[in-house]
Amino acid sequence: MHLLDCDTGVDDAVAILHLLGSGAPLAAVTVTFGNVGAAQAAENTLRVLHLAGRSDVPVAVGGESTLDGTPTRHSATLVHGANGLGGAELAPSPAALLDEPAPELIVRLAHEHAGELRIVATGGFTNLARALQLDPSIAGLVREVTLMGGAALAPGNVTPSAEANIMADPLAAAAVLGAGWPVVLVPLDATMTQLLEEDDWQRLADAGGVAGAAAEILDGYLDFYHGVFGRRCAAMHDALAVAIALGEVEPELAPRAHVEVDVSDGPSRARTIVDLRHRYRGYAPAVDSPVRVVLEAQQPLAPRLVERILA
Ligand code: BDR
Ligand code: CA
Repeated sequence: MHLLDCDTGVDDAVAILHLLGSGAPLAAVTVTFGNVGAAQAAENTLRVLHLAGRSDVPVAVGGESTLDGTPTRHSATLVHGANGLGGAELAPSPAALLDEPAPELIVRLAHEHAGELRIVATGGFTNLARALQLDPSIAGLVREVTLMGGAALAPGNVTPSAEANIMADPLAAAAVLGAGWPVVLVPLDATMTQLLEEDDWQRLADAGGVAGAAAEILDGYLDFYHGVFGRRCAAMHDALAVAIALGEVEPELAPRAHVEVDVSDGPSRARTIVDLRHRYRGYAPAVDSPVRVVLEAQQPLAPRLVERILA
């Protein structure tokens, strides 16, 4: 049983469609801030689920402030468009948000599906951190937590050292990475090599329907990444986390490692400090950490992603 916590967001929208297309059971989608505010991300989530004919999936939203109560700022317009969906105007959903706040829902589902719940988080990690504050015992109930976030050896994407989901709420990221539950961290090291190319995008556009709408959502995102890679293509950060959680992409290199988050206000704020010293031959025996860090996942994601969206 899966639960997706996201900040929908262009690549979050694609990740939702990928997860739905896989047929994996989905208990709920919980929504947080990041690419846009939590309220806008929740509206986007409802619309994407409606697009896919899955308005039955429960959706709950979290707060608009970080773990320490700081109101959030959102500056991802350049990447995700003003509405977070690349300007695509999806039809409104007849479904409403649950009254239950996202952290409470996460706690409830962790108990209802004890030992079975796999959480995939692709936005800031505030909802998960608040759920852990409400009930620390969920760390022993959740089967696995796959987080898209951070940069181990790769550069950051919002500052030289920080990745956007960690920067959204570094204290929350530190709490979630340090909770003791089994974590698979999918950082930029892995996601910046998993690109959706122009011909993949064209297959979606040509198919029309749900896939055509996905192509419309993705259109400006490919233009943004033209500025990064020199051709129209797009890093599928969040869909890679989903595919790894589903076991569809097996990372080639995912060592266990202790991970800390820089929560200072300096230039390395939100940097993920991944202790890989044990990789020097003979430096240390196996690392006793519940966190695995995906350094490489080369198995191509895009063909599977397109297949899932066309499903
Ligand atoms: C992450 O930040 C957001 O912009 C994307 O949706 C993804 O979750 C990549 O750093
Ligand atoms: Ca995201």
